[in-house]
Amino acid sequence: MVEYDIAVIGGDGIGPEVKAEAMKVLDAAAEVYGFKVRRSEYPFGSQHYIDTKEIFPDTAFEEVKQKHAIFLGAIGDPRLPVGLIEYGIIGHMRFDLDLYVNLRPMQLFDERLCPLKGKTPADVDMVFVRENTEDAYSGMHGFMHKGQPLEVATQAMVYTRTGTERIIRYAFDLALERGKRKKVTLIDKANAIRAQDIWTRVFAEVAEDYPEVKTEHAYIDAACMWMVKNPEWFDVAVTPNLFGDIITDLGAMVQGGMGVAASGNIHPGRVSLFEPIHGSAPKHAGKNVACPVAAIMAVSMMLSFLGQKQAAAAIEDIVRELLCSCRLKGVGPGDHPTNEVGDMIVGELRGTASRV
Ligand code: IPM
Ligand code: MG
Repeated sequence: MVEYDIAVIGGDGIGPEVKAEAMKVLDAAAEVYGFKVRRSEYPFGSQHYIDTKEIFPDTAFEEVKQKHAIFLGAIGDPRLPVGLIEYGIIGHMRFDLDLYVNLRPMQLFDERLCPLKGKTPADVDMVFVRENTEDAYSGMHGFMHKGQPLEVATQAMVYTRTGTERIIRYAFDLALERGKRKKVTLIDKANAIRAQDIWTRVFAEVAEDYPEVKTEHAYIDAACMWMVKNPEWFDVAVTPNLFGDIITDLGAMVQGGMGVAASGNIHPGRVSLFEPIHGSAPKHAGKNVACPVAAIMAVSMMLSFLGQKQAAAAIEDIVRELLCSCRLKGVGPGDHPTNEVGDMIVGELRGTASRV
């Protein structure tokens, strides 16, 4: 029986609660679909840092590198300096495991979850491919005359040809694999950020290798407008890191809210990281009100990445069915007790056992 080694970091705020539900679903999927999961839990996060001054020690990082995949609940705590723990945990893994794809499907499961008038699941079915290791996230920044009236602050937006080409190629391959509208939209701001001309050129070069895939282009400001006005315009979209960060929060709302949006930080063929898009939401922590659906959808993405396509699809189908039938009233905080959502999905998954 195939066995997967998974590193699990619950993290901060609602992270541990949604993680617990996601792990219930993972275990049930393993049981029903005939594979094994060996989990190693790590305590990293803000509280651990406050207690021990440890963020993500090298020994643990070396261990995590040997796993098949990593699951993360959420990171972030207002008690700590901005960015410290985000860069120390999520950034560390994204950069040092070279997880160059941030895959963010934006799929509306049921019409009533969409804040846009008249948009249906057929209209909101897109995947954002966010570059995940470069751009304004390069970490190359500095201050001159800090605290003085003439202070200067800079941060470099870095694009390499290798980094740009591999993410664009991933997007084209994905458009073919999805086999839907077979369209890739490049989203950038090359008219203002002239360094993004490299995206314009590399996109055109890669497109030549994919004659069966249609191409489109939108500047990020217009893309935000389209996302609200005509989300059906998008199939696969590829974009630099920072714009990808921003537009996928917009996309998450269009698909029903932070309670449902999941993501994968992927290096094809290597250990990769799966997480809900939402943050740690400290105000909802410890109350059993957070919606674990996004974390559970991150498990579905992780299983798909590991090759357990049937189990991944079953989880997605169950979530869709529970939402469409209103057995899940919603995906907002307090719509259901956190633990009941996990139990409900586990129950449905066990019910599919006879069909496997
Ligand atoms: C995300 C988050 C992170 C990002 C933060 C926590 C650094 O917003 O994964 O979208 O900006 O990438
Ligand atoms: Mg973000």
